[in-house]
Amino acid sequence: MNVFDLVIKGGTVVTGADSTHCDVGIKDGIVTALGDGLDAATVIDARGRLVMPGGIDSHCHIDQVSSGGLETADDFASGSRSAAAGGTTTIIPFAAQHQGQSLREVVADYHRRADGKAVIDYAFHLIISDPTEAVLGQEFPALIKDGYSSAKIYLTYDALKLDDRQALNVLATARREGAMVMVHAENHDVIEWLTEQLLLQGKTSPRYHAAAHAAAAEREATHRAITLAEVVGVPVLIVHVSGREAIEQIAWAQRKGLPVYGETCPQYLFLTADDMDRDGFEGAKYMCSPPPRDAANQACVWQGLENGVLQVFSSDHAPYRFSGRDGKAAAGADAPFQKIANGVPGLEVRLPLLFSEGVRTGRLSLQQFVDLTATRAARLYGLYPRKGTIAVGSDADIAIWDAERKVTISQAMLHDNMDYTPYEGRTVTGWPTLTLSRGEIVCSEGEVTAAPGRGVFLPCDLPEPARARRPGVLDTC
Ligand code: URP
Ligand code: ZN
Ligand code: ZN
Repeated sequence: MNVFDLVIKGGTVVTGADSTHCDVGIKDGIVTALGDGLDAATVIDARGRLVMPGGIDSHCHIDQVSSGGLETADDFASGSRSAAAGGTTTIIPFAAQHQGQSLREVVADYHRRADGKAVIDYAFHLIISDPTEAVLGQEFPALIKDGYSSAKIYLTYDALKLDDRQALNVLATARREGAMVMVHAENHDVIEWLTEQLLLQGKTSPRYHAAAHAAAAEREATHRAITLAEVVGVPVLIVHVSGREAIEQIAWAQRKGLPVYGETCPQYLFLTADDMDRDGFEGAKYMCSPPPRDAANQACVWQGLENGVLQVFSSDHAPYRFSGRDGKAAAGADAPFQKIANGVPGLEVRLPLLFSEGVRTGRLSLQQFVDLTATRAARLYGLYPRKGTIAVGSDADIAIWDAERKVTISQAMLHDNMDYTPYEGRTVTGWPTLTLSRGEIVCSEGEVTAAPGRGVFLPCDLPEPARARRPGVLDTC
């Protein structure tokens, strides 16, 4: 009898800690050995290839109803297929609460959306937009114990935003129960006021989205989120950081020794506000919040990834098609910018974009690449070491990369349900040629072979930084 079901032979195994030339032995979907001379009836020849942990995309919107009532273009079938084709083996989308909804019922609803569809494994973050006594007193604590140990809160968007007091209450509950809070940090009133002024001046086209969502609004809300978390004494993670202003606040907090984490996304490295300044409605394709900024801010985001101020690189895949009822033009192809759905797709190209422009250029080591795209998210969201690394005992979630492969990105080759990619025509070097989820090949040379429904729900442990109780203001008086 073979000790292994499958051996990946002769590749360079990369983790967040090191690179080793060795074979990977897999049994029952688990990595059971790393070493030389391993054999099995099924062998994958990985000579000349990088053998890396499959990516964890810890911020993506799948089959989600937006606060404006729009459905994302991707459901769990197309979203997870697209992820797998891009070398991602775990997704963490959101179970999004809207006003008046029970968090429990929201979670049940998102399970129904995912069941029978996902081709790779998934967990859920909660979105808490209505933190009632029942939600914070009973539902959220019980859900944390059931494996939903992270929640996103918003400081903007009419239907989602929490005021500071509500945010404090969510943070305090997270502290008591050991959960991670992610914050969408933009100052709502600043955005609303700027929007009103711009509209009064007749400035309605997509390019004005960038002006309305000013960097100062992001900076202020980032600082406020950090302050609220400091007062309570709890870690906080600032999502989709767009540039210098917010990064400076996060770095300041980290220098003070506060457990503050930062996430960024491809759109802040590869797009700028100029992309929204295209003819007609075309600029809508590049609209997300916070918006892409300019080349100087892109350089700051790169620096934040290089020096560790930012720890997580996710896609914030928020797929709204360019055309159609639920897409960017839902309010008309001449809709003013504030009526256009926010978000860009990126699930499938997240890893290749960062590999090409980060690793191939020498900005990031292979270890940093793996940490930013898989390992750190696993640690921060309670999935490590089952996910996010290649180690004995971990799930055999592995992407095998051809570091030399040149690919020109086009919507036609992608597996999502979108009708555009903001990265159309961009050539990258380095591409995942084979993706394995729990030892099963789910994508080979761009062909997704996995059956819908094989992906399983992953209950999350408590996030590592949230396990230790930290002093807040009330502990020091
Ligand atoms: O513009 C964006 N990022 N849309 C998705 C929703 C969110 O706030 O992450
Ligand atoms: Zn957000
Ligand atoms: Zn998002």
